[in-house]
Amino acid sequence: MEKRTLGKSGLVVSALGLGCMGMSDFYSGRDDEESAKTLHLALDLGVVFLDTADMYGCGKNEELVGRFIQGRRDEVVLATKFGNTFDEKIGKRLGVSGRPEYVRSACEASLRRLGVDHIDLYYQHRVDPNVPIEETVGAMSDLVREGKVRYLGMSEAGPATIRRAYAVHPIAALQTEYSLWSRDVEDEILPLCRELGIGFVPYSPLGRGFLTGQIKRFEDLAEDDFRRHSPRFQGDNFRKNLELVDRIKSIAVEKDCTASQLALAWLLAQGEDIVPIPGTKRRSYLEENVGASAVKLSKSDLDRIEEAAPKGVAAGQRYPEASMKMLNL
Ligand SMILES: NC(=O)c1ccc[n+]([C@@H]2O[C@H](COP(=O)([O-])OP(=O)(O)OC[C@H]3O[C@@H](n4cnc5c(N)ncnc54)[C@H](OP(=O)(O)O)[C@@H]3O)[C@@H](O)[C@H]2O)c1
Repeated sequence: MEKRTLGKSGLVVSALGLGCMGMSDFYSGRDDEESAKTLHLALDLGVVFLDTADMYGCGKNEELVGRFIQGRRDEVVLATKFGNTFDEKIGKRLGVSGRPEYVRSACEASLRRLGVDHIDLYYQHRVDPNVPIEETVGAMSDLVREGKVRYLGMSEAGPATIRRAYAVHPIAALQTEYSLWSRDVEDEILPLCRELGIGFVPYSPLGRGFLTGQIKRFEDLAEDDFRRHSPRFQGDNFRKNLELVDRIKSIAVEKDCTASQLALAWLLAQGEDIVPIPGTKRRSYLEENVGASAVKLSKSDLDRIEEAAPKGVAAGQRYPEASMKMLNL
Protein backbone atom coordinates (compact mmCIF):
# COMPACT_ATOMS: atom_id res chain seq x y z
CA MET A 1 0.00 0.00 0.00
CA GLU A 2 1.30 3.43 -1.04
CA LYS A 3 2.12 5.89 1.78
CA ARG A 4 1.08 9.51 1.96
CA THR A 5 2.06 12.39 4.23
CA LEU A 6 -0.72 14.44 5.80
CA GLY A 7 -0.02 17.97 4.57
CA LYS A 8 3.21 19.42 5.88
CA SER A 9 2.80 17.79 9.29
CA GLY A 10 5.20 14.95 8.49
CA LEU A 11 2.68 12.34 9.66
CA VAL A 12 3.03 9.41 7.24
CA VAL A 13 -0.01 7.16 6.79
CA SER A 14 -1.24 4.54 4.32
CA ALA A 15 -2.89 6.18 1.28
CA LEU A 16 -6.14 4.48 2.33
CA GLY A 17 -7.16 4.21 5.97
CA LEU A 18 -9.81 2.05 7.60
CA GLY A 19 -12.91 3.67 9.09
CA CYS A 20 -13.94 1.63 12.12
CA MET A 21 -17.16 3.45 13.06
CA GLY A 22 -19.54 1.01 11.36
CA MET A 23 -18.07 -1.89 13.34
CA SER A 24 -19.92 -0.62 16.41
CA ASP A 25 -22.40 2.07 15.44
CA PHE A 26 -24.57 3.86 12.85
CA TYR A 27 -24.80 0.97 10.39
CA SER A 28 -26.47 -2.29 11.35
CA GLY A 29 -25.02 -5.80 11.40
CA ARG A 30 -22.48 -5.63 14.23
CA ASP A 31 -20.09 -8.60 14.14
CA ASP A 32 -17.08 -8.15 16.45
CA GLU A 33 -15.41 -11.35 15.33
CA GLU A 34 -15.42 -10.37 11.65
CA SER A 35 -14.41 -6.81 12.61
CA ALA A 36 -11.37 -8.15 14.46
CA LYS A 37 -10.36 -10.22 11.44
CA THR A 38 -10.86 -7.16 9.23
CA LEU A 39 -8.60 -5.06 11.48
CA HIS A 40 -5.85 -7.68 11.33
CA LEU A 41 -6.17 -8.08 7.58
CA ALA A 42 -5.98 -4.30 7.19
CA LEU A 43 -2.61 -4.24 8.94
CA ASP A 44 -1.42 -7.24 6.89
CA LEU A 45 -2.36 -5.36 3.70
CA GLY A 46 -0.56 -2.21 4.86
CA VAL A 47 -3.74 -0.26 5.71
CA VAL A 48 -2.36 1.06 8.98
CA PHE A 49 -4.29 4.33 9.41
CA LEU A 50 -7.21 3.40 11.70
CA ASP A 51 -10.02 5.83 12.39
CA THR A 52 -12.29 5.73 15.43
CA ALA A 53 -13.92 8.23 17.82
CA ASP A 54 -14.91 8.17 21.46
CA MET A 55 -18.60 8.57 20.63
CA TYR A 56 -18.82 5.61 18.22
CA GLY A 57 -20.89 3.12 20.18
CA CYS A 58 -20.42 5.44 23.20
CA GLY A 59 -16.90 4.12 23.83
CA LYS A 60 -17.43 0.61 22.43
CA ASN A 61 -15.64 1.24 19.13
CA GLU A 62 -12.49 2.51 20.83
CA GLU A 63 -12.55 -0.55 23.11
CA LEU A 64 -12.90 -2.85 20.11
CA VAL A 65 -10.09 -1.21 18.15
CA GLY A 66 -7.92 -1.08 21.28
CA ARG A 67 -8.46 -4.78 21.97
CA PHE A 68 -7.45 -5.86 18.49
CA ILE A 69 -4.37 -3.73 18.04
CA GLN A 70 -2.76 -5.02 21.23
CA GLY A 71 0.57 -6.50 20.22
CA ARG A 72 0.53 -4.56 16.93
CA ARG A 73 0.40 -1.00 18.32
CA ASP A 74 3.64 0.02 16.64
CA GLU A 75 2.28 -0.84 13.18
CA VAL A 76 -0.74 1.44 13.56
CA VAL A 77 -1.32 5.16 13.04
CA LEU A 78 -4.19 5.55 15.47
CA ALA A 79 -6.68 8.39 15.03
CA THR A 80 -9.54 9.14 17.38
CA LYS A 81 -11.80 12.08 18.16
CA PHE A 82 -13.48 13.91 21.02
CA GLY A 83 -16.13 16.61 21.16
CA ASN A 84 -19.45 14.79 20.87
CA THR A 85 -20.37 14.15 24.50
CA PHE A 86 -22.13 11.00 25.66
CA ASP A 87 -22.99 8.99 28.74
CA GLU A 88 -20.91 5.81 28.55
CA LYS A 89 -22.98 4.02 31.20
CA ILE A 90 -26.37 4.41 29.55
CA GLY A 91 -25.02 4.62 25.99
CA LYS A 92 -26.66 7.97 25.19
CA ARG A 93 -25.32 10.89 23.17
CA LEU A 94 -25.64 14.29 24.86
CA GLY A 95 -24.20 17.26 22.90
CA VAL A 96 -20.85 18.85 22.13
CA SER A 97 -18.06 20.20 24.29
CA GLY A 98 -14.80 21.91 23.48
CA ARG A 99 -14.12 23.09 27.05
CA PRO A 100 -10.46 22.66 27.99
CA GLU A 101 -11.20 20.49 31.04
CA TYR A 102 -13.40 18.29 28.86
CA VAL A 103 -10.65 17.92 26.25
CA ARG A 104 -8.32 16.63 28.95
CA SER A 105 -10.80 14.18 30.48
CA ALA A 106 -11.94 12.92 27.05
CA CYS A 107 -8.35 12.19 26.07
CA GLU A 108 -7.69 10.28 29.30
CA ALA A 109 -10.84 8.22 28.70
CA SER A 110 -9.85 7.45 25.09
CA LEU A 111 -6.34 6.37 26.13
CA ARG A 112 -7.91 4.04 28.71
CA ARG A 113 -10.43 2.51 26.30
CA LEU A 114 -7.82 2.11 23.55
CA GLY A 115 -5.28 0.67 25.99
CA VAL A 116 -2.47 2.86 24.64
CA ASP A 117 -0.19 5.51 26.09
CA HIS A 118 -0.56 7.92 23.19
CA ILE A 119 -2.88 8.76 20.29
CA ASP A 120 -1.23 9.51 16.95
CA LEU A 121 -3.86 11.92 15.60
CA TYR A 122 -6.43 13.52 17.89
CA TYR A 123 -9.32 15.31 16.19
CA GLN A 124 -11.93 17.66 17.53
CA HIS A 125 -15.01 15.89 16.13
CA ARG A 126 -17.35 18.89 16.07
CA VAL A 127 -16.64 22.52 16.88
CA ASP A 128 -18.30 23.76 20.09
CA PRO A 129 -19.89 27.10 19.14
CA ASN A 130 -19.87 28.18 22.80
CA VAL A 131 -16.13 27.82 23.40
CA PRO A 132 -13.51 29.94 21.59
CA ILE A 133 -11.49 27.58 19.39
CA GLU A 134 -8.26 29.00 20.85
CA GLU A 135 -9.21 27.52 24.23
CA THR A 136 -10.02 24.10 22.78
CA VAL A 137 -6.90 23.88 20.62
CA GLY A 138 -4.84 25.31 23.48
CA ALA A 139 -5.91 22.34 25.61
CA MET A 140 -5.23 19.95 22.71
CA SER A 141 -1.74 21.38 22.29
CA ASP A 142 -1.06 20.74 26.01
CA LEU A 143 -1.74 17.06 25.27
CA VAL A 144 0.92 17.16 22.54
CA ARG A 145 3.43 18.71 24.94
CA GLU A 146 2.67 15.97 27.47
CA GLY A 147 3.24 13.22 24.86
CA LYS A 148 -0.34 11.92 25.05
CA VAL A 149 -1.07 12.98 21.49
CA ARG A 150 1.29 13.34 18.51
CA TYR A 151 -0.72 15.38 15.99
CA LEU A 152 -3.91 17.45 16.03
CA GLY A 153 -6.87 17.35 13.67
CA MET A 154 -10.30 18.89 13.20
CA SER A 155 -13.49 17.62 11.62
CA GLU A 156 -16.17 19.58 9.75
CA ALA A 157 -14.72 22.89 10.96
CA GLY A 158 -15.39 26.08 8.97
CA PRO A 159 -12.64 28.14 7.29
CA ALA A 160 -12.39 30.91 9.91
CA THR A 161 -12.17 28.35 12.72
CA ILE A 162 -9.48 26.40 10.89
CA ARG A 163 -7.36 29.54 10.51
CA ARG A 164 -7.76 30.49 14.17
CA ALA A 165 -6.99 26.95 15.29
CA TYR A 166 -3.89 26.80 13.10
CA ALA A 167 -2.61 30.03 14.66
CA VAL A 168 -2.57 28.26 18.06
CA HIS A 169 -1.01 24.96 16.94
CA PRO A 170 -0.35 23.30 13.55
CA ILE A 171 -3.26 21.15 12.41
CA ALA A 172 -2.13 17.97 10.65
CA ALA A 173 -5.45 16.94 9.14
CA LEU A 174 -8.99 18.01 8.49
CA GLN A 175 -11.49 15.15 8.36
CA THR A 176 -14.63 16.16 6.50
CA GLU A 177 -17.07 14.35 4.22
CA TYR A 178 -15.81 14.22 0.63
CA SER A 179 -16.83 11.85 -2.13
CA LEU A 180 -18.39 11.73 -5.57
CA TRP A 181 -21.68 12.89 -4.04
CA SER A 182 -20.27 15.34 -1.43
CA ARG A 183 -17.97 17.81 -3.12
CA ASP A 184 -18.72 21.06 -1.22
CA VAL A 185 -15.22 21.11 0.29
CA GLU A 186 -13.74 21.81 -3.13
CA ASP A 187 -14.96 25.44 -3.00
CA GLU A 188 -13.19 26.81 0.05
CA ILE A 189 -12.14 24.17 2.56
CA LEU A 190 -9.78 22.10 0.43
CA PRO A 191 -7.99 25.16 -1.02
CA LEU A 192 -7.57 26.49 2.53
CA CYS A 193 -6.10 23.19 3.71
CA ARG A 194 -3.65 23.34 0.82
CA GLU A 195 -2.72 26.94 1.62
CA LEU A 196 -1.97 26.04 5.25
CA GLY A 197 -0.45 22.60 4.55
CA ILE A 198 -3.18 20.61 6.29
CA GLY A 199 -3.76 17.04 5.07
CA PHE A 200 -7.29 16.15 4.02
CA VAL A 201 -9.02 12.97 5.22
CA PRO A 202 -12.30 12.36 3.35
CA TYR A 203 -14.80 10.52 5.53
CA SER A 204 -17.72 8.52 4.13
CA PRO A 205 -15.79 8.27 0.85
CA LEU A 206 -18.24 5.63 -0.38
CA GLY A 207 -21.24 7.84 0.40
CA ARG A 208 -22.01 5.71 3.47
CA GLY A 209 -22.15 2.71 1.16
CA PHE A 210 -24.53 4.20 -1.42
CA LEU A 211 -21.84 4.78 -4.06
CA THR A 212 -20.91 1.08 -3.99
CA GLY A 213 -24.18 0.25 -5.74
CA GLN A 214 -24.97 -2.38 -3.09
CA ILE A 215 -27.79 -0.42 -1.46
CA LYS A 216 -30.77 -0.80 -3.75
CA ARG A 217 -33.85 -0.14 -1.61
CA PHE A 218 -34.54 2.02 1.44
CA GLU A 219 -36.48 -0.91 2.92
CA ASP A 220 -33.29 -3.01 2.95
CA LEU A 221 -31.76 -0.72 5.59
CA ALA A 222 -32.35 -2.18 9.07
CA GLU A 223 -34.63 -0.34 11.47
CA ASP A 224 -31.70 0.85 13.59
CA ASP A 225 -29.58 1.99 10.63
CA PHE A 226 -28.64 5.68 10.75
CA ARG A 227 -29.05 6.00 6.98
CA ARG A 228 -32.84 5.80 7.35
CA HIS A 229 -32.55 9.32 8.82
CA SER A 230 -30.30 10.68 6.08
CA PRO A 231 -32.19 12.77 3.49
CA ARG A 232 -30.14 11.28 0.65
CA PHE A 233 -31.49 7.83 1.40
CA GLN A 234 -35.11 8.90 1.58
CA GLY A 235 -37.98 8.88 -0.95
CA ASP A 236 -37.42 10.61 -4.23
CA ASN A 237 -33.83 11.48 -3.32
CA PHE A 238 -32.98 7.79 -3.09
CA ARG A 239 -34.34 7.18 -6.57
CA LYS A 240 -32.49 10.16 -8.10
CA ASN A 241 -29.25 9.19 -6.39
CA LEU A 242 -29.51 5.68 -7.83
CA GLU A 243 -29.22 7.25 -11.28
CA LEU A 244 -25.89 8.75 -10.21
CA VAL A 245 -24.71 5.34 -9.00
CA ASP A 246 -25.71 3.77 -12.31
CA ARG A 247 -23.52 6.27 -14.15
CA ILE A 248 -20.59 5.54 -11.82
CA LYS A 249 -21.11 1.80 -12.26
CA SER A 250 -20.99 1.98 -16.03
CA ILE A 251 -17.67 3.85 -15.97
CA ALA A 252 -16.38 1.29 -13.46
CA VAL A 253 -17.30 -1.59 -15.78
CA GLU A 254 -15.28 0.02 -18.58
CA LYS A 255 -12.33 0.49 -16.22
CA ASP A 256 -12.64 -3.15 -15.17
CA CYS A 257 -13.11 -2.22 -11.53
CA THR A 258 -16.03 -1.93 -9.10
CA ALA A 259 -18.01 1.20 -8.30
CA SER A 260 -16.39 1.30 -4.83
CA GLN A 261 -12.93 1.16 -6.34
CA LEU A 262 -13.76 3.90 -8.83
CA ALA A 263 -15.12 6.17 -6.07
CA LEU A 264 -11.94 5.68 -4.01
CA ALA A 265 -9.59 5.96 -6.99
CA TRP A 266 -11.24 9.27 -7.89
CA LEU A 267 -10.54 10.62 -4.40
CA LEU A 268 -6.94 9.38 -4.45
CA ALA A 269 -6.52 11.18 -7.79
CA GLN A 270 -7.57 14.53 -6.29
CA GLY A 271 -4.14 15.07 -4.72
CA GLU A 272 -1.29 13.56 -2.74
CA ASP A 273 -2.64 15.28 0.37
CA ILE A 274 -5.88 13.22 0.28
CA VAL A 275 -6.21 10.10 2.45
CA PRO A 276 -9.69 8.52 2.30
CA ILE A 277 -10.86 6.26 5.14
CA PRO A 278 -13.48 3.89 3.72
CA GLY A 279 -15.37 2.09 6.47
CA THR A 280 -16.12 -1.59 6.64
CA LYS A 281 -16.42 -4.42 9.10
CA ARG A 282 -15.86 -7.11 6.44
CA ARG A 283 -12.65 -8.56 5.04
CA SER A 284 -14.17 -8.96 1.57
CA TYR A 285 -15.05 -5.25 1.28
CA LEU A 286 -11.68 -4.24 2.70
CA GLU A 287 -9.86 -6.29 0.06
CA GLU A 288 -12.03 -4.82 -2.68
CA ASN A 289 -11.42 -1.28 -1.43
CA VAL A 290 -7.66 -1.78 -1.18
CA GLY A 291 -7.80 -2.70 -4.88
CA ALA A 292 -8.69 0.93 -5.60
CA SER A 293 -5.06 1.91 -5.17
CA ALA A 294 -4.26 -0.02 -8.37
CA VAL A 295 -6.92 1.77 -10.43
CA LYS A 296 -5.26 4.54 -12.42
CA LEU A 297 -7.49 7.23 -13.87
CA SER A 298 -6.43 9.16 -16.97
CA LYS A 299 -7.41 12.76 -17.68
CA SER A 300 -10.20 11.53 -19.92
CA ASP A 301 -11.45 9.11 -17.21
CA LEU A 302 -11.54 12.02 -14.76
CA ASP A 303 -13.41 14.16 -17.28
CA ARG A 304 -16.00 11.44 -17.75
CA ILE A 305 -16.42 11.03 -14.01
CA GLU A 306 -16.80 14.82 -13.71
CA GLU A 307 -19.61 14.68 -16.24
CA ALA A 308 -21.28 11.76 -14.47
CA ALA A 309 -20.96 13.20 -10.96
CA PRO A 310 -20.64 16.99 -11.11
CA LYS A 311 -20.52 19.06 -7.93
CA GLY A 312 -23.95 19.35 -6.30
CA VAL A 313 -25.29 16.27 -8.10
CA ALA A 314 -26.63 14.50 -5.00
CA ALA A 315 -30.30 14.84 -4.18
CA GLY A 316 -30.81 15.71 -0.51
CA GLN A 317 -28.64 17.07 2.27
CA ARG A 318 -25.97 14.84 3.74
CA TYR A 319 -27.36 14.98 7.31
CA PRO A 320 -30.74 15.57 8.94
CA GLU A 321 -31.41 19.29 9.58
CA ALA A 322 -30.31 19.35 13.26
CA SER A 323 -26.93 17.77 12.44
CA MET A 324 -26.41 20.13 9.48
CA LYS A 325 -26.31 22.99 12.01
CA MET A 326 -23.15 21.51 13.55
CA LEU A 327 -21.18 21.57 10.29
CA ASN A 328 -18.85 24.24 8.96
CA LEU A 329 -18.79 26.18 12.26
N1 LIG B 1 -15.70 12.94 11.25
C1 LIG B 1 -16.96 12.60 11.11
O1 LIG B 1 -17.89 13.34 11.45
C2 LIG B 1 -17.28 11.24 10.50
C3 LIG B 1 -18.58 10.94 10.07
C4 LIG B 1 -18.82 9.69 9.50
C5 LIG B 1 -17.78 8.78 9.36
N2 LIG B 1 -16.53 9.08 9.80
C6 LIG B 1 -15.40 8.14 9.67
O2 LIG B 1 -15.24 7.80 8.31
C7 LIG B 1 -15.26 6.39 8.15
C8 LIG B 1 -15.85 6.00 6.80
O3 LIG B 1 -17.12 6.55 6.62
P1 LIG B 1 -18.47 5.69 6.65
O4 LIG B 1 -18.20 4.38 7.28
O5 LIG B 1 -19.50 6.57 7.20
O6 LIG B 1 -18.88 5.53 5.12
P2 LIG B 1 -18.25 4.87 3.83
O7 LIG B 1 -16.86 4.49 4.06
O8 LIG B 1 -18.59 5.80 2.75
O9 LIG B 1 -19.19 3.58 3.66
C9 LIG B 1 -19.29 2.58 4.63
C10 LIG B 1 -20.41 1.65 4.26
O10 LIG B 1 -20.14 1.08 3.00
C11 LIG B 1 -20.12 -0.34 3.07
N3 LIG B 1 -19.00 -0.78 2.23
C12 LIG B 1 -17.68 -0.54 2.39
N4 LIG B 1 -16.97 -1.06 1.38
C13 LIG B 1 -17.85 -1.65 0.57
C14 LIG B 1 -17.73 -2.36 -0.65
N5 LIG B 1 -16.54 -2.55 -1.23
N6 LIG B 1 -18.86 -2.84 -1.23
C15 LIG B 1 -20.07 -2.64 -0.68
N7 LIG B 1 -20.25 -1.96 0.48
C16 LIG B 1 -19.15 -1.48 1.09
C17 LIG B 1 -19.92 -0.67 4.53
O11 LIG B 1 -20.55 -1.89 4.79
P3 LIG B 1 -20.24 -2.80 6.09
O12 LIG B 1 -20.47 -1.89 7.27
O13 LIG B 1 -21.25 -3.88 5.98
O14 LIG B 1 -18.86 -3.26 6.01
C18 LIG B 1 -20.62 0.50 5.21
O15 LIG B 1 -22.00 0.26 5.29
C19 LIG B 1 -16.09 5.90 9.34
O16 LIG B 1 -15.86 4.53 9.62
C20 LIG B 1 -15.61 6.84 10.43
O17 LIG B 1 -14.40 6.36 10.98
C21 LIG B 1 -16.27 10.31 10.35
